[in-house]
Amino acid sequence: MADVFVAASIRDISPGVKEFAFRPGLGAALRPYAPGSHIVIETAGKANAYSLTGDGTTADGYRISVRRQGDGGGSAWLHDRLRPGDTVRLSRPRSAFAPVATAKHHLYVAAGIGVTPILSHVRAALRWNRSFEVVYGYSAAGAPHLEDLQRLARGRLFEAEGGAQLAEVLTDRLRQQPVGTHAYACGPAGMMAVFRKLGGSLGWPEERLHVEHFAAPELEPGEPFTVRLASGRAVAVPGGTSALDALAEAGVPVPALCRQGVCGQCRVAVAAGTPEHRDLILTSREREANDCFYPCVSRAQTDELELEL
Ligand code: FES
Repeated sequence: MADVFVAASIRDISPGVKEFAFRPGLGAALRPYAPGSHIVIETAGKANAYSLTGDGTTADGYRISVRRQGDGGGSAWLHDRLRPGDTVRLSRPRSAFAPVATAKHHLYVAAGIGVTPILSHVRAALRWNRSFEVVYGYSAAGAPHLEDLQRLARGRLFEAEGGAQLAEVLTDRLRQQPVGTHAYACGPAGMMAVFRKLGGSLGWPEERLHVEHFAAPELEPGEPFTVRLASGRAVAVPGGTSALDALAEAGVPVPALCRQGVCGQCRVAVAAGTPEHRDLILTSREREANDCFYPCVSRAQTDELELEL
């Protein structure tokens, strides 16, 4: 569901990065959100997800910071076309990267524009008096929100310039953590892979390493399969067509946002059969349970997948 919002302010915060603030338009309302949440913005026929940077209380509207990437995409539209006072359609905030309530300490790790959900976490941690520290890796070309983090995380911020230094600082901080710490990372795919690898080699359980992806990699078209609905009806899913699209085509729409296996919106319970999980959300333990899947990207290892739909 999307509501009309108004671009209240737009400002440059670092080379190639702008911050956008939105206030509700007619009939819309700001909603509190969990730190690390994102909204989906509909721009010129496309929908893109962006992390909110506030603490979740929405006192100053919704804020996002966007790096301009390429031409013709959502970020270029926001940078080049959107002006203060323009209206735009925004989804309600959705959380797929929330802090773990039982964590004794939180280690937040950001690289580049991946700082946006981490900034939200830091602001919320201060508001709710959570124990935390931050590792922020950036390049000499720009460090969005660095001054904000320096001000907010005084004495708890570990900075790194360049990938090699980031790996060094990250290794040290992952090693130093007390039992009960949960670590959260957002940044380019390479950095996330390093985060997971380092965590694994240092003995961190996968359940305590949380990641927020910007987008899923390109996927193979996959083999055809059949989904069976609770009514007994069969819906064919051809190779190269997502189960989400096949279901919509058959008149069984499933709510979806990112369509990349990232946001968690399209989760469907699986009653029988084995999914081929292609999302970036489930942990390996959750994958093994095979009791749900994300039809926007995931397919089936078995000829048929019975869904609770
Ligand atoms: S729509 Fe986002 S995970 Fe499927």
